[in-house]
Amino acid sequence: MRNLSDISHTKQTKTGATGVSKKHESAPKHVAGTAVYVDDMQEPRGTLYGAVGYSSIAKGRIMALDLASVRASEGVVDVLEVQDIPGHIDIGAVFGGDPLLTSDEVKYQGQPIFVVAAATELQARRAARKAIIQYQEETPLLDVTKALGEQQFVRPSHFMKRGDQDAALANAPHRLQAKQHVGGQEHFYLEGQAALAVPAEDGGMLVYSSTQHPSEVQKLVAEVLNVPLNRITVDMRRMGGGFGGKESQGAAWACMAALLVMKTGRAVKVRLPRVDDMSMTGKRHPFYNAYDIGFDEQGLILGADIMVAGDCGHSPDLSDAIVDRAMFHADNAYYLPDVAIAGHRCMTNTVSHTAFRGFGGPQGMMIIERAMDDIARVIGCDPLDIRKRNLYGGAGRDMTPYHQQVEHNVLLELIEQLEQSSDYRARRDEITQWNSTSKVLKRGLALTPVKFGISFTLQHLNQAGALIHIYTDGSIQVNHGGTEMGQGLHTKIIQIVAEALSIDPNEIQITATRTDKVPNTSPTAASSGTDLNGQAAKNAALTLKQRISECIAEQKGCTIEQVSFADGKVHWGEGESMSFAEAAQFAYVNRVSLSATGYYKTPKIWYDREQAKGRPFFYFANGAAVSEVVVDTLTGEYKVVGVDILHDVGRSLNPAVDRGQIEGGFIQGMGWLTTEELKWNEKGVLTSNGPATYKIPAISDTPKRFNVDLFERDNDEETVYHSKAVGEPPFMLAISVWSALRDAISNVSDYNVSPALDTPATPERVLHAVMATKAEMARGGES
Ligand code: MTE
Ligand code: MOS
Repeated sequence: MRNLSDISHTKQTKTGATGVSKKHESAPKHVAGTAVYVDDMQEPRGTLYGAVGYSSIAKGRIMALDLASVRASEGVVDVLEVQDIPGHIDIGAVFGGDPLLTSDEVKYQGQPIFVVAAATELQARRAARKAIIQYQEETPLLDVTKALGEQQFVRPSHFMKRGDQDAALANAPHRLQAKQHVGGQEHFYLEGQAALAVPAEDGGMLVYSSTQHPSEVQKLVAEVLNVPLNRITVDMRRMGGGFGGKESQGAAWACMAALLVMKTGRAVKVRLPRVDDMSMTGKRHPFYNAYDIGFDEQGLILGADIMVAGDCGHSPDLSDAIVDRAMFHADNAYYLPDVAIAGHRCMTNTVSHTAFRGFGGPQGMMIIERAMDDIARVIGCDPLDIRKRNLYGGAGRDMTPYHQQVEHNVLLELIEQLEQSSDYRARRDEITQWNSTSKVLKRGLALTPVKFGISFTLQHLNQAGALIHIYTDGSIQVNHGGTEMGQGLHTKIIQIVAEALSIDPNEIQITATRTDKVPNTSPTAASSGTDLNGQAAKNAALTLKQRISECIAEQKGCTIEQVSFADGKVHWGEGESMSFAEAAQFAYVNRVSLSATGYYKTPKIWYDREQAKGRPFFYFANGAAVSEVVVDTLTGEYKVVGVDILHDVGRSLNPAVDRGQIEGGFIQGMGWLTTEELKWNEKGVLTSNGPATYKIPAISDTPKRFNVDLFERDNDEETVYHSKAVGEPPFMLAISVWSALRDAISNVSDYNVSPALDTPATPERVLHAVMATKAEMARGGES
């Protein structure tokens, strides 16, 4: 047993700047409370505060909007309505459908209608409540299965296919069908949505925005204001968590603040209180999935027909790509010989669901992981054996449903290593034995793997830029297109640049991400922040290294090969050297530019969506987890008692940061599958709209046994120092918790019934599953 993030146990793999557990660049500031977030920034004199007025109904029409009392309310300076917007009204990230404000049609509860600016935050919020709005209410569509039946989609369906699944299913010795509901998830970033817009010259603005995508905020602010992009600068120093919730949906508040700046000529801040944030912003998509699988006597899958249907809410937002990613991961780690996968994008009258760690991948994986357990109950063996048997393998068993070959597959080795280190088999025996004498409490165990594709599936997003300045004292400023949300991206980039220049990481200052320093950036998402921006920063560093080397070779009369960088010094000729700072000064007086940009684009990737064929992913990140639970079968209450994780981050850039991502991702995934339940009432009003009604994991939910290890293997692809992305993949390791719960429940049927268990698997659902399993047993049937 080990404490959380006890880095003293972490193996230090090398002595350079990367591969060591350097602490997060802001750790002391995080701890001291001095790290500045948007709401902490020094506000310009006369800053106004915005509060958003939003719809109380989920579907219908605004018949009358009376804002007289809002305007007359104490401290109010101005009110923004849709007719005040000079440029674009629709801020949809990829497709239309997301009006910044509405004045007629209402499609979800929480839809913004107006924004009031007042002298204080409290005055703005009080005023916003004084609006008198008359609606003509209609019945909202809230059921994803109903939307699917009626083909109410926000985007057309998409299909993947390889081989002839119908024939394979018809000829298989065994065939199973099942359906499941997978719940959504509130991001619950500690820092809510926030933006501060400050007027600048020529109708321009400087916008501080809590966003994973500064370039998109820049573009949308410019578009709503109807000014060129070069007037708008977006600045992002750090977020108090994003988790995907600030990829597209951080923009609206910046646009509102900017429009109010335009109207009032004063700086404006819009920061959402928690209830408003939870009501107005999209969540992880709930999914409705189904499988039809055929398999042989050994449980080897022969054919699969899989459907995933995302509940997208009222508009497309990023749902096309999210449901695609669910489809890309409906195989998870398993080879499906003849397979068809259908993905649907259902429209319902809720907020528009959006990116959330894993981006649909977790929801897609749930269906095949369910199948693994179900097959095992039919065959009568340990689900781990079924999982291992169905893994992607060598030639003939290495093709995904989207025709990408699975190369450098480490999963079998990784799983077997974890099987050993977690003592899986002995624990399985001991648990089965224990359960046989325990009537009420039942223990469950499960090992589940993760294979997660790394790259944006939208190809052009796989590019990044960086900008490095070396000053004459040798100190360095690094800027790049990625944003810091707690994941340690900036820390890793500092290490990468330090490694490239062989200098002390403490010489490097990372600055706020700004659209005027590195333009046209991609969102920090798809776990690719370090892969993309790290390579770009490295390239910039190498350019500067080359320039300094050339200068020294020329001035000192040696060849460029004789110049080398090591230990914070530049060496040349026969044992001569100067400090890096002296080299910077030397290059400067010899008129060498000490500022360079770097650029990177991911090689090898392509995807033809029409054909549903290609190589959408540069590589796969892998991992596996063993979870043990104990369930009270009389109440449905349970506890996760033990978790062992072995995760593949390639050659780790920073073991401590990587472990933090693995631990945090796992616990967040566990919350998604267990306690976090989104509730909309029959009118489509979100009732789980605060911490009292929505339960994220607490520190007390951390399993007592929590072993996290890094799989020691370099990435075979040419990624930055052969590392692998780590942000999202560990999230899906938590599927082992859900599988372990099913395992414990199945014990009440002596493992004959494979219980259905929709998520979140709250105690109520677990109890229902126990009762259903017992009833099934009483009928003498298998599930
Ligand atoms: N870790 C922290 N602490 N806070 C976050 O908001 N977001 C996750 C993950 N880890 C997040 C996090 C998500 S959704 C992604 S896509 C990645 O970090 C993004 O950062 P990266 O690409 O630098 O890993
Ligand atoms: Mo992460 S969901 O790709 O922002």
